[in-house]
Amino acid sequence: MLSWDEFHQDEKATPVAQATPKAPEPKKDVRQEVQEQIKQVSKPAAPVAPAAAQAPAANYESSLDAADEKNNADALQQAIDDLKALDVSAGLEELEGNASRVAVDDKRMINCRADLNQLVPFKYDWAWQKYLDGCANHWMPQEVNMNADIALWKNPNGLTDDERLIVKRNLGFFSTADSLVANNLVLAIYRLITNPECRQYILRQAFEEAIHTHAYQYCIESLGMDEGEIFNMYHEIPSVAKKASWGLKYTQSLSDPNFRTGTPETDKELLKNLIAFYCCLEGIFFYCGFTQILSMGRRNKMTGTSEQFQYILRDESMHLNFGIDMINQIKLENPHLWDADMKEHATQMILQATQLEIEYARDTMPRGVLGMNAAMMEEYLQFIANRRLIQIGLKEQFTGVSNPFPWMSEIMDLRKEKNFFETRVIEYQTGGALSWD
Ligand SMILES: [Fe+2]
Ligand SMILES: [Fe+2]
Repeated sequence: MLSWDEFHQDEKATPVAQATPKAPEPKKDVRQEVQEQIKQVSKPAAPVAPAAAQAPAANYESSLDAADEKNNADALQQAIDDLKALDVSAGLEELEGNASRVAVDDKRMINCRADLNQLVPFKYDWAWQKYLDGCANHWMPQEVNMNADIALWKNPNGLTDDERLIVKRNLGFFSTADSLVANNLVLAIYRLITNPECRQYILRQAFEEAIHTHAYQYCIESLGMDEGEIFNMYHEIPSVAKKASWGLKYTQSLSDPNFRTGTPETDKELLKNLIAFYCCLEGIFFYCGFTQILSMGRRNKMTGTSEQFQYILRDESMHLNFGIDMINQIKLENPHLWDADMKEHATQMILQATQLEIEYARDTMPRGVLGMNAAMMEEYLQFIANRRLIQIGLKEQFTGVSNPFPWMSEIMDLRKEKNFFETRVIEYQTGGALSWD
C-alpha cells in the first residue's frame, strides 16, 4: 500500500537500483529536502573559487560588457513600452468565445460561443464529478511490484507458448493503442468539445492515457522484451494493425487544423469519432486483452502485469462512461444529428469493431488457454457490443448471448479500496486528503 509513511523513510537507508524496474522507489522525505534547501540558502557565502573552478552560471554575469548592458537596458525599456501600448480589450476578444460572464444556459457541448475559460457555473456536473473521481484514483506503474513476473517470464517452463503469445500480443496492441487514444483527445476532439467541464476531464483522461502507455512500457522493459517487436506490432501483425487503422480513419479529418464543426455533416463526423474511440476502441477493442491478462492474474500468473491492467481497466471504464455521457448529451442538445442514417452508421461501427475484436481473439487464442477460448470470447464480445448499443440508445444486435466471464464485471464493480488480487490496497491517497503531521 502506498502511504505517506513512506515519506518518512530515510532515502539513503533503502537504496534501490534505478535501472531495474522491480520494486517501487522509496519516496523522498519532502520536508527534510526542503529544510536542507533552506539551510543551503541560509549558509554564509563561500569564498570565491578560482576562475577555472567556477560554475558556468557564475561566469555568465561577469562576462557582460558595457555594450551588453546597454542592449539589455534597451530590451527592458522596449518591453515596458510595449506593455504600455497593450490593448487589453483586443486581447480578451481573441479568447475563445464571447468573454462576457457565462450563464449555465449559455453552455453547450459543441459549437458553443460562451467563454470557455470560465469553469463555473457548472452545467455538466457528471463531467466534473468524473474529473474528481479520476484524480482520486491516481496511480503510477512503478508502484506495482514486477519481480514475480520477471522470474516467471525468464523461466523457460514458467508459461506455455500460448500464454506467452497472449502477453506479447496484448502488450503490442495496448502499447500503441493508448497513444492513439491520447492523440485523438489532444489533437482532434479537445478543441471541438466546447465546455470547460468536459475539457477538464479530457485533460485528466489524456494524462491517464500517458500513464497507461508508461505502464505498458514498464512491463515491456521489466520483462526484457524486444521493444522494436512489441512497439511495431500495430503495423506488422494483421489482427493488431486492423484495429489500429480502423480507429485512425475516424481521427484523420478531425486532426486537420482547418476542420470545423457547425454543419450537420461535420457535427456528425465528430459524433462518429466519439463513438469510434469511446464505444469501439476503449469499449470493445480493449476487452479481449483485458480479459486474457486478468484471467492470467486470477491463475496467479503474471500478477504484476495483471495488476497494472486492473488499474488501467478501472480508468478505462470511467473513460467509456464519460464518452457515453458526452455522446448522449450531444444527442440531447442536437436531436437532428441522431437521424436514421446516423443510427444505422453507429450500429455498423459497433458491429465492425466487434468483428475485428473477434478476429483478434481467434489470432491470440488459437487453442483453449487460461480457462477460455475464442468461442467464449466471441460470446463475451457480443454481450459487450449489446451493452454499447443500448448505452447510446440503439437496439441490441445479438440475441440470446450472456456473459461467460461474470468475474470481469465483479472486477470492474469492486470498490476502489479493495484489491482483486489482495496484494495491496488500491486506493490512492491524494495530497489534498492528507496531512503532513
Ligand atoms: Fe488508456
Ligand atoms: Fe482510455
